[in-house]
Amino acid sequence: MDNLRFYIQTFGCQMNDHDSAVLARLLEEQGHLEVETAEGADVILLNTCAIRERAEQKVYSQLGRYRFLKEKRPEIVLGVGGCVAQGEGRKVLRRAPYVDLVFGTRTLHRVPELVEAVRSGRRQVVATALDDDPVALATLYAHAAGRGPRAYVTVMQGCDNYCAYCVVPYVRGRELSRPADELVEEVRRLAAEGVVEVTLLGQNVNSYGQKPPGEVDFPSLLRHVAAVDGIRRVRFTTSHPKDLSDDLIRAFAEVPGVMPHIHLPVQSGADRVLTAMNRRYTVAHYLGLVERLRRLRPDIALTSDLIVGFPGETDAEFEATLALMEQVVFDGLFSFKYSLRPGTRAAELTDPVPEAVKEERLARLQRLQGEHSLRRNRAMEGQVFSVLVEGGSKVGDGQVMGRTPQNKIVNFAGEVAWRAREVPVRVTAAAVNSSRGEAVGPAG
Ligand code: 5AD
Ligand code: SF4
Repeated sequence: MDNLRFYIQTFGCQMNDHDSAVLARLLEEQGHLEVETAEGADVILLNTCAIRERAEQKVYSQLGRYRFLKEKRPEIVLGVGGCVAQGEGRKVLRRAPYVDLVFGTRTLHRVPELVEAVRSGRRQVVATALDDDPVALATLYAHAAGRGPRAYVTVMQGCDNYCAYCVVPYVRGRELSRPADELVEEVRRLAAEGVVEVTLLGQNVNSYGQKPPGEVDFPSLLRHVAAVDGIRRVRFTTSHPKDLSDDLIRAFAEVPGVMPHIHLPVQSGADRVLTAMNRRYTVAHYLGLVERLRRLRPDIALTSDLIVGFPGETDAEFEATLALMEQVVFDGLFSFKYSLRPGTRAAELTDPVPEAVKEERLARLQRLQGEHSLRRNRAMEGQVFSVLVEGGSKVGDGQVMGRTPQNKIVNFAGEVAWRAREVPVRVTAAAVNSSRGEAVGPAG
């Protein structure tokens, strides 16, 4: 096969980021070369996101732009993969007939071969089977690599929760956990390559090890991963409040290396809405979890996801969401206007919230969160944190950037040679999204 220049454009979440990185390594292994722009590429691949309508629209408008490139150079292979491709399948070709290749969320390992099929036959190829293929998974993620000191590790695929608004179970398939020994081996290899921090990824890591039933549950997996030589920091995302066990909460206090940050999406502060969303917990349950987490690990940072304007959400229910925010005071929050996803259960609900109301609610919520983020970050001022240096900082020369155990970004005067090392840093000035600090000791 020729050596090709390939360009991957990624939309969406950390899972997609990681999948794209793994796909890039896989293609490089076959002798191809990753390039930074679509213009000079022989192969253009889009790894897409379908979580909200707007994400999906972005994919099609981007494809419209690549169409011109293809008109100039018809030999380019244009491929669409990931969640939109999985959901739409062949329909992608109807909307964008100039696309050559459609691959899904579980056929990434076949991309090199599929590109070759397109090139040799010049016909359109669609490969969107959603089979559970643990061997294919293992071969794919054998190509996982760190980005400097940090790496992602996909511990499970798919989701079986069927939250009423969410397209993920349809486009990422059934929940499937990878074997623990394979994961620990992957972490060992990453550590040997210089990685000191791993983030374990899954749509709902709390149910790790259940499908297929394994000997190791998530808290034990954490213990195994944290025990790997060279791994100093372990993070994970995402947790579902209905499955967050006491054992896992205790891991924050008991397992050295597990970082004091949890992303625990709450979605709404009103019980009726939570039920309609099929979230299967109450506000009281959520607040109980927050209380236990903070009791066992007082320095823990808490972030969350919230949706405004779920069908039928009343003013009072929205106020309940703001009240929940006031009670918890999150360190950070991702908030979204509800977006109808065809095929989901919520798509059948008939009581839509007008767009203008959604916008107003979102703006109010984000204003409140801005205050809360700042309040949380200001509380760091004067304190010393161990900051893992990631590299040079955007804020200026001579500054480096890193993260505290709570995953907060701090910029401070330092040397890029400190990359991958932990430095004690006193926070001097906090802002909403990052803080300034000064090193108060040597890099460890
Ligand atoms: N509309 C708006 N937000 C959504 N999310 C998932 N599906 C939708 C949707 N249809 C949000 C949830 C989830 C995050 C990843 O995206 O808050 O936690
Ligand atoms: Fe979507 Fe719910 Fe699964 Fe998260 S847990 S991916 S919100 S269905």
